[in-house]
Amino acid sequence: MQTVVTENPILAAEILRTGGLVAFPTETVYGLGAKALDETAVKRIFEVKHRPQDNPLIIHIYDLSQINELIEGFPENAQKLCERFMPGPLTVVLNCSKVVPKEVTAGGNTVGIRIPKNETARKFLRAANVPVAAPSANLSGKPSPTTYQAVLEDLDGAIECVLKAEASELGLESTVVDCTTTPFTLLRQGAIPIEELQEVVDEIVTLDEASSGLARSPGLKHKHYSPQAKVRLIDFPHQIPDLPGSAYIGLTMPNVRFSKSYIAADLEDYARCLYEFFRECDRQSIQIIFCQTVPRKGIGATIMDRLARAARGS
Ligand code: TXA
Ligand code: MG
Repeated sequence: MQTVVTENPILAAEILRTGGLVAFPTETVYGLGAKALDETAVKRIFEVKHRPQDNPLIIHIYDLSQINELIEGFPENAQKLCERFMPGPLTVVLNCSKVVPKEVTAGGNTVGIRIPKNETARKFLRAANVPVAAPSANLSGKPSPTTYQAVLEDLDGAIECVLKAEASELGLESTVVDCTTTPFTLLRQGAIPIEELQEVVDEIVTLDEASSGLARSPGLKHKHYSPQAKVRLIDFPHQIPDLPGSAYIGLTMPNVRFSKSYIAADLEDYARCLYEFFRECDRQSIQIIFCQTVPRKGIGATIMDRLARAARGS
């Protein structure tokens, strides 16, 4: 199949409306969209990504008024979160209505909903004018794509269209909050730090992955966010062994000169550039990536979550 690469959100929306798969930019990472209420289109997302069937998809809309047909009940505190953080990198999990296909929910009773902030995403979703189910637009197990080129690397020839725009401005996925539990549960750390959510809803508990957590957030049990290279976390970049074929990403200059390194300007920059750095290391057949740890505060907690997963998976 010839993948159409376009900057025109109207064309991309037409392709989606006729049942095609369209990768589109968001402020977090690029998504791979299909009409959410079209089971056949949604099934193809799982096929082309090689995504495990038990991992549900987030539905993307452009306006909160579209949420009503998709959900059953909207707790007041969930409304508060939506009013404060949407459009933006927040996904709320709510009880789903009967119109949502089981392919989207992975057979469960809940659905994740998100309203992206990225301008191109918004034009695309508005033109599509239907709810759009979309996971990250990578092959399962690879780091999420933050550029349209990374999408093509994984999916060129397998999907109908890539809506091309700038690199994702945040670089890490949305924060996922389960609003069907009392208190609410943080299912995935993400671009909005938990501290910011707690300013609106003071009790949000974190998921204990060791216990029931994995069943409630199926995405967490799958291999995620890992490059081919081995990932090693280091607290002090002046103690890195001098190994050939290795790379470094962090906030401070390391003691060793690496053939490939990235010194991030701040935590936001670290978050924005991490996945593309992983991908670039794989393109260059780097064997080991040393990643500097950061304090688990604010966006630092999300960076550490992704680094820990990448290190575990390698
Ligand atoms: O920033 C993002 O969220 C990006 C962009 C494209 O919007 N999307 C994304 O989708 O990261 P995906 O499919 O790669 O990750 C969605 C995560 C998975 O961990 C999944 O298990 C969880 O959200 N999730 C989705 N629906 C859920 C539900 N109903 N219940 C529990 N977890 C859910
Ligand atoms: Mg993903």
